[in-house]
This record gives sequence, C-alpha cells and structure tokens, in this order.
Amino acid sequence: MTASRLPFPLTLTGGGVVLREWRSDDLDDLVVMLDDPDIARWTPMPSPFDVEAGIAYLKRAYQGRATGQRIQLAITADGSVPLGEVLLFGVDLGLKEAELGYLVGAPHRRRGLAASALSLLSAYAQSTLKLSRLLLRIDPGNLASTAVARRCGFRLTGEPAILQEGPYGPTSLDTWELVEGRAGTRMERLRNVAARRYGRRTQF
Ligand SMILES: CC(C)(COP(=O)(O)OP(=O)(O)OC[C@H]1O[C@@H](n2cnc3c(N)ncnc32)[C@H](O)[C@@H]1OP(=O)(O)O)[C@@H](O)C(=O)NCCC(=O)NCCS
Repeated sequence: MTASRLPFPLTLTGGGVVLREWRSDDLDDLVVMLDDPDIARWTPMPSPFDVEAGIAYLKRAYQGRATGQRIQLAITADGSVPLGEVLLFGVDLGLKEAELGYLVGAPHRRRGLAASALSLLSAYAQSTLKLSRLLLRIDPGNLASTAVARRCGFRLTGEPAILQEGPYGPTSLDTWELVEGRAGTRMERLRNVAARRYGRRTQF
C-alpha cells in the first residue's frame, strides 16, 4: 500500500507495546507527561506545558490524524494509560521518505519503550506504507535519543547539520537514517523476547 492519506484510526501492537490514537480523556496524563524539563529541552513543546497547551496539542493531533497528514500515537503497555508518544510526519511520497519522532514520560524511561515504539512504527512504515527512507533529526547532545536511534538500527547520514535557534540558544540537528531491513529484524527479536516473557503472540 502506498499512502496518499495516512491510515486513521490505527493501533499497532508488538514488542511489548500498544500504539494507539490519542483520546480526549488522555488530557491529564498528557499534561503531566509533557510538562517535563527534558521534553522542553529537546523537543519544540511549549514550556511550561499546561492544560491549555494540552487541549491545543490534542486538537492538533486529531486534525493531523483526521486529515491523514501524520501518524501520532500514544505509547501504552496495553492500550490504556499513555506512557509516551511516537510520530511519523513530513511524508514525501515521491521520495518515499518520512521523519519520525518520539518521547517517553520521565517515570517510564529506560525500560525500552522508545526503542520498541520506534521499531514498531518504522516496521509498519516500511512494510505497509512502503516508505523506504525513514529519518530522525537529533541534537548530538541528546544522548538518550541518539542511543534510541542507534539501538533501532538508524545511522548518521553525514548530511550537513540543520541549524536552529531555540530557547536554549543555537542548536544543530543531525540526520539519522534507518539502515535497510533493520526495522523488521529488530521487531522479530522483540517479538521473540515478548513471546518468551509473556507467553503470547504479538503482531504488528
Ligand atoms: C529519548 C527518550 C524518548 C528515550 O526513551 P526511553 O524509553 O527511556 O528509551 P529506551 O528505554 O527505549 O532506551 C533505548 C536505548 O537508549 C539508551 N538510553 C535511554 N536513555 C538514555 C540516557 N539518558 N543516556 C544514555 N542512554 C540512554 C538505553 O540504555 C537503550 O540503549 P541499549 O539498548 O543500548 O541499552 C526519552 O529520554 C525522552 O523522552 N527524552 C525527552 C524527549 C526527547 O529527547 N525526544 C527525542 C527528540 S529527538
């Protein structure tokens, strides 16, 4: 399938996570998650992130989904409480290219959630959406994010850094690209681990 509008609604399951659409009753959890210094430092989120920002965020997320422009899913363990977010945006069907992004709430970090969510969405983008060039843009100072990228099979492209002015001063974003075939391999490994751990089959 080649997407002219990205599929909506969408649920992806695999590697110990369930990626699902944002819902209006996620507002309180979303505000707690996004009002965080690391998210303010490394993403374009407003800070402080209050209820008003949360309402605007969920509205924009819904619009982006309903118009098929982006995929923006809550990371959950079982479809219930949101623990993070993973996105696919900037789709260029001609180049078969898109960018991905991710964040995880502070109490839920270092448990493999970002890596699982990124691998799951990357595998879906390659196998179902037929996107062959998947990109991340990461500030080299963001060690957590570069570790996630590396673990999921992304490599630096060597393209010139993208320079930006942010609230913390000038930043530069490196471009990372998923090495061919790595998303599927990683999902296979996650699937096997999940099957051993929980004794159930997962799908994506
Ligand atoms: C980046 C972020 C999403 C990582 O989420 P996470 O769920 O903790 O990441 P994972 O548990 O999947 O970790 C994946 C890998 O990164 C490593 N890692 C995670 N956080 C790290 C840190 N702070 N320092 C060094 N390595 C780190 C893990 O050890 C793991 O590596 P390994 O498999 O080699 O052991 C999270 O720190 C975050 O939300 N940060 C703020 C928002 C942000 O920076 N988003 C990305 C913008 S480009």
